[in-house]
Amino acid sequence: MKHTITRKEDLNAVDYVIDVVAPEVAKRFRPGNFAVLITVKNGERIPMSIERAEGDTITMYIKRLGKTSRELDTWNVGDALYKVIGPMGTPPPLKKYGTVVFASDLVCGHAENNAMCRELGKIMGNHIISIQSFPDKSLIYPEKELAKSVSDEFILCTEDGSVGRKGHYLDIMQELLEERRIDQVFAGGGIPPLQKLSELTKKYNVPVYTTVRQIMVDATGMCGSCRVFIDGEQKLACIDGPMFDGHKVDWEAAISRLAMFKNKEAVAMECYNEKMKEVV
Ligand SMILES: Cc1cc2nc3c(=O)[nH]c(=O)nc-3n(C[C@H](O)[C@H](O)[C@H](O)COP(=O)(O)OP(=O)(O)OC[C@H]3O[C@@H](n4cnc5c(N)ncnc54)[C@H](O)[C@@H]3O)c2cc1C
Ligand code: FES
Repeated sequence: MKHTITRKEDLNAVDYVIDVVAPEVAKRFRPGNFAVLITVKNGERIPMSIERAEGDTITMYIKRLGKTSRELDTWNVGDALYKVIGPMGTPPPLKKYGTVVFASDLVCGHAENNAMCRELGKIMGNHIISIQSFPDKSLIYPEKELAKSVSDEFILCTEDGSVGRKGHYLDIMQELLEERRIDQVFAGGGIPPLQKLSELTKKYNVPVYTTVRQIMVDATGMCGSCRVFIDGEQKLACIDGPMFDGHKVDWEAAISRLAMFKNKEAVAMECYNEKMKEVV
C-alpha cells in the first residue's frame, strides 16, 4: 500500500496539515483514535491525531517540532510515507451527553476538537460548544480548519486578545461553568492546562475526558513507555487511552514522564541539522 500525500498546506508558521492515503485507518476511524506514522523504513513511529477520515484518506495537523515532523515537512504532494498504522487507542463513548464543550489549545487538540465535535454534533440531543485557544492572531488556523462549522457555538480566543475573546480556554471554561449547565467536557492539547481544566471541572462536578499525550515508542502496548496512572491503576495511553477521565489522572506523573527522551530528541535534531548542511 502506498501512503501517498494528497494535500499539504500550512496552517500557520509552525503547523501544517496533510492528507494521506490510508484506507484501512480511514475505514475504522472514530474520534479519539490516532494513527502512527513511520515516514521512512527503520524510521521512528510518531503518533498523530486524526482530524478527519474521508474516503481513503486521513487528515492530520502536524507541528514542526523535532527531526521527524520537520523532515516530513520537506515532503510534497505525491510523496509516500513508509507506513501509516491504526486506528490506535480506545475512543470515549460517542453518545448523547447534552451540552458538550470541547476545548483545545494545541495542534493535536485542535484536530481532536474538529473530529469529536463533527461526530457528537450528529447525535440528537447534543449541543456542541467549541473553544479554540491560540497564542495570537498570527497563529490562528484558516477558517475552514477551525471547529466553527461543526459546532453550535464557537468561541475563538487568543491569549493576547488580538482576535476573538482575550484569554486561554481555561478562562472561558471558568465563565461557562459558572453561568451555564454543562454536561460533559472534552479537551486536548497542552498537558499542564489539561491538569488545570481537570481541577476546575472537578470543582463544578462536571465530567471531563482529556487526551493524555505520552511518549509512545511502539504504540502497541509492548514497551510500557506511555503508562499513565488512573485512580492509582496503571494504564497504557496507546491501548486504553489516550482519552481518560481527567479527574482520575495522576497529572504530576504524566508531566514528568513527558520529559523522558528530551536529550535523545535533541541529539536526533542536531544530527538532522548537520545532515541538511551537507546536502545544501
Ligand atoms: C496520541 C498522540 C497524538 C498526537 N497527535 C499529534 C498531532 O495531532 N499533531 C502533532 O504535531 N503532534 C501530535 N503528537 C505528538 C507527536 O507524536 C510528536 O510531536 C512527534 O512525535 C514529534 O516527533 P519529532 O521527531 O518531530 O520531534 P522530537 O524531537 O522527537 O520530539 C519533540 C516532542 O514531541 C513529543 N514526542 C516525541 N516523540 C514522541 C512520541 N513517540 N510519542 C509522543 N510524543 C512524542 C515530545 O513531547 C517531544 O519532546 C501526538 C502524540 C500522541 C501521543
Ligand atoms: S507506546 Fe509502548 S506501551 Fe504504549
